[in-house]
Amino acid sequence: MKLSGATSLSWSRTVSHSIRIPQHLAICGKRLQVFCAIDETEMKNQLTVSITGATGFIGRRLVRRLNADNHNIRVLTRSKSKAELIFPAREFPGIVIAEEPGWKDCIQGSDGVVNLAGMPISTRWSSEIKKEIKQSRIRVTSKVVRLINNAPDAARPTVLVSSTAVGYYGTSETAIFDERSPSGNDYLAEVCREWEATALGVNKNVRVALIRIGVVLGKGGALAKMIPLFMMYAGGPLGSGKQWFSWIHLDDIVDLIYEALMNPSYKGVINGTAPNPVKLSELCERLGAAMGRPSWLPVPDFALKAVLGDGASVVLEGQRVVPARAKELGFSFKYPSVKDALKAILSQGNQI
Ligand SMILES: NC(=O)c1ccc[n+]([C@@H]2O[C@H](COP(=O)([O-])OP(=O)(O)OC[C@H]3O[C@@H](n4cnc5c(N)ncnc54)[C@H](OP(=O)(O)O)[C@@H]3O)[C@@H](O)[C@H]2O)c1
Repeated sequence: MKLSGATSLSWSRTVSHSIRIPQHLAICGKRLQVFCAIDETEMKNQLTVSITGATGFIGRRLVRRLNADNHNIRVLTRSKSKAELIFPAREFPGIVIAEEPGWKDCIQGSDGVVNLAGMPISTRWSSEIKKEIKQSRIRVTSKVVRLINNAPDAARPTVLVSSTAVGYYGTSETAIFDERSPSGNDYLAEVCREWEATALGVNKNVRVALIRIGVVLGKGGALAKMIPLFMMYAGGPLGSGKQWFSWIHLDDIVDLIYEALMNPSYKGVINGTAPNPVKLSELCERLGAAMGRPSWLPVPDFALKAVLGDGASVVLEGQRVVPARAKELGFSFKYPSVKDALKAILSQGNQI
């Protein structure tokens, strides 16, 4: 860490979040000036972040990342006891965990909010469940937006990073979708449109980044459910294999969300997908190779539907999505190729 020289700090919200002023430095009735050796960049970048869906697949990794960088984390959850098990105080000192009545106090005074909550889509889609898949997202997002908008000016977060999905574009075997492409006309496209429109309800002075996330590959998530199928059926392509699969490594989606929190240039829609989407046949081939299994027996659609439910449509009817904005913004992907991503994930252990 490079230490700057003596630095004069005026009292601001950022500073108040970052520095505890010892009692003996308080000077009655005078404007407080603190002279200390401190890394200015680090000071400015230490944020307080409230996160919905923090207990999920992406959220857990994001919390670890923010915690490692000494940011202050506020977990907005439906179950405090569940979240406390996931984020034990000894490992996450200072973490604040709150159920809905406490969300207001968490959001007020946060610098940024990340919104990841929503009922998982990997289930059998009855009409009731379809309603809840959409409503859970709209409900949490509108609550977050209302709390941000109603916060007093001095305590209002300056950025909302809200998740959405590449399902926004609908499915196609031939089209290439970037952030300017129109929305599709299936159920998931409708969910994403309403989800995004709700997030865009925040006050104009709050920066909004909408991350349209592809299928996240990591230890867990969809891949964990697909691996046993590959073990069972040697692991050839799923269905025709011609469908596109727009994926992103867990580390990269977490980095993208992190960057969107910190960097004011990240605003509007940003596709959260790796620069090299693959056909499903290639994914299966690479997965087979990484697992040291031949890729010749096709995995039947019904088997995938049995483990992913109707959410399997995300894998079985894909779309080719490119991260045009992330590239313009200079975002650097740690895992641009699916081969390296799978190798890294599978090398983390047999159980994913
Ligand atoms: N993972 C992917 O491949 C992927 C791809 C595209 C988009 N996304 C989107 O990105 C977001 C995060 O993904 P993820 O994979 O981390 O999700 P996840 O593991 O399914 O976790 C989502 C979190 O949402 C909360 N939640 C679950 N059901 C809910 C309900 N009925 N009402 C309100 N909140 C509920 C839970 O938090 P609490 O129990 O703590 O409240 C849960 O931990 C999701 O909205 C997802 O749709 C993910």
